Amino acid sequence: MPGGIKIENLNFSYTTGNPILKDISLEVGQGEKLGIIGPSGAGKSTLLLHLNGIIAGEGTVRIGDTIVEKKSLPVIRKKMGLVFQNPDDQLFNPTVEEDVAFGPLNFGYNRQEAAYRVSQALKAMNLEGFENADSHHLSLGERKRVALATVLATSPEVIAFDEPFASLDSVMVVQLLDIIEKLDATLVIVSQSLLPLISCCDRLAVMVSGQIRACGQKEEILKNERLMREGGVDMDFYRRVYKKYLA
Ligand SMILES: Nc1ncnc2c1ncn2[C@@H]1O[C@H](COP(=O)(O)OP(=O)(O)OP(=O)(O)O)[C@@H](O)[C@H]1O
Ligand SMILES: [Mg+2]
Repeated sequence: MPGGIKIENLNFSYTTGNPILKDISLEVGQGEKLGIIGPSGAGKSTLLLHLNGIIAGEGTVRIGDTIVEKKSLPVIRKKMGLVFQNPDDQLFNPTVEEDVAFGPLNFGYNRQEAAYRVSQALKAMNLEGFENADSHHLSLGERKRVALATVLATSPEVIAFDEPFASLDSVMVVQLLDIIEKLDATLVIVSQSLLPLISCCDRLAVMVSGQIRACGQKEEILKNERLMREGGVDMDFYRRVYKKYLA
């Protein structure tokens, strides 16, 4: 069973001094899929960066039984994978293949096992034939898929996805949803793409101005239109467009 996530009283400011995360406490159960919505600038990416210790605020973050702190980072980085919002933060090798192989090789898989993992992850992201491409010459959606593949290739027990559906076409979104559904991992998924998000998460949290305003079963959260609007989602807009063009 994959480990869960427990965040207790987390506070954080960048050097500018404005509080960005304000007393956040949040739990994600073992194997659960938690969705997080929130307007731009709410602090969602900042929160995810705390899960594998890229930045550290005051308070406690646990992945399984391990507290995220400097000395535990090698263990945490093995347990926990983060797909960055901006794929260019994830990709730093000369070719797609090397980028995707980096994690498995770094975690001690032999060349043969690493090559198998790379081929599986590239296949999952429809990237066969891209092995020798330079990631930085790919389109944004292609780079996003490579970034997703780098994390999928290591099969972490906890994965945080920062805007995984952004820049993907909807056929690819459905394929990614299928992968997400089958992952035996604890997941946190931050997304402004409401439909894919609600189709894959169990619970939904609403983050506003550095705070978790609400967290509960997605059906309950979705019913609260005012809360959703605070989270940056105009439910009426979706309904109107659906009725007019799609129903
Ligand atoms: N490195 C940084 N230094 C200073 N301020 C930062 C830094 N990174 C982010 N911020 C600020 O912190 C706040 C939260 O940013 P964050 O990227 O976490 O928001 P977000 O909820 O992920 O937004 P989006 O939906 O646009 O991705 C913003 O006001 C942003 O300007
Ligand atoms: Mg963000």
